[in-house]
Amino acid sequence: MHPVLSAQLAEAARVLPEPVRQYYAGGAGDQLTVGEAEQAWWQVRLRPRVLRDVSRIDTGLDLFGVRLKTPVLTGPTAAHGLAHPDGEIATARGTASAGSLLVLSSRSSRPLEQVPVGPWWFQAYVLCDRQLTLELAVRAAAAGAGAVVLTGDTPYLGDRPGATRIDLHGAAPPGSEQDPSAGLEVIDQLRTATGLPVLVKGVLRGDDADACLSAGAAGVVVSNHGGRQLDRAVATAAALAEVAAVVAGRGPVLVDGGIRSGLDVLCALALGADAVLLGRPILWALAAGGAAGVEQCLRALTDDLAAGMGLAGASSLARVTSDLVERHH
Ligand SMILES: Cc1cc2nc3c(=O)[nH]c(=O)nc-3n(C[C@H](O)[C@H](O)[C@H](O)COP(=O)(O)O)c2cc1C
Repeated sequence: MHPVLSAQLAEAARVLPEPVRQYYAGGAGDQLTVGEAEQAWWQVRLRPRVLRDVSRIDTGLDLFGVRLKTPVLTGPTAAHGLAHPDGEIATARGTASAGSLLVLSSRSSRPLEQVPVGPWWFQAYVLCDRQLTLELAVRAAAAGAGAVVLTGDTPYLGDRPGATRIDLHGAAPPGSEQDPSAGLEVIDQLRTATGLPVLVKGVLRGDDADACLSAGAAGVVVSNHGGRQLDRAVATAAALAEVAAVVAGRGPVLVDGGIRSGLDVLCALALGADAVLLGRPILWALAAGGAAGVEQCLRALTDDLAAGMGLAGASSLARVTSDLVERHH
């Protein structure tokens, strides 16, 4: 783990109430998948190039026509008000200052209209009330969201022993819980209602990625929800290459889960990701230092990525190609 992230984790553990710390840290079931996530990136081995001009390293990229300084993005996590009084407003400020992009959770502590300051996407769940699902996404589009990230891995909430003392959904209005009957049709419904590109989050298989794209998705996020849904789900580091091969440039592939250093990011990009999302590290950063903490976290991993790119002989993200990693499959 990058030292900035470990310091923020330690500070977050000091300042957060214990039930909140546990809610953030927790995974489903025996916590096998959450426990495996970080180490799965450590299995990847790099094949650096020599004598390339790496005097200037560019970590910039375009996502749906928006220029970002870094492929390290802020992922959607619920209820930032538990981490910091300014909640998602601080997260959005810190993310924008780092030249990154925020994926705002639909379980945000703040109304979505209050949050945006920089480029952002809206994360949607399929709620039992389908009309409410679409209305929320339309509100997000009106407030300037550049894409919808449809979380597809949550037909039911996973069983998370660590989260038993935080009841986020106790006050939720009827119809706002997840709809287990949702199918691929919701991709096109969201796209048509908002006019925005829709990425499906939670994809771990090539055939699912293909099905989502055929149903109208513009991209996918390889994710196991930070190990909080199906315990024993495959690590994202292991699932990524298959998904990226099937998508084959038809749209962006993002990945999250256990990404804690610039080399984790470099490995993810070499395995076929266009960008990565941070979940828990952003919550620690927010608790430890508010907007400045979030900016520091994103900058630390971006600088660390640039250092890794230099030593690997890749001066731009376009040069972080699949030949940079050893093939296991
Ligand atoms: C406390 C917490 C809340 C989360 N809330 C959401 C959410 O509202 N929507 C969603 O799509 N994913 C949610 N996730 C999953 C994250 O988007 C992401 O997939 C995961 O945390 C990435 O792994 P990492 O925490 O190891 O970086 C949540 C994760 C955590 C830890």
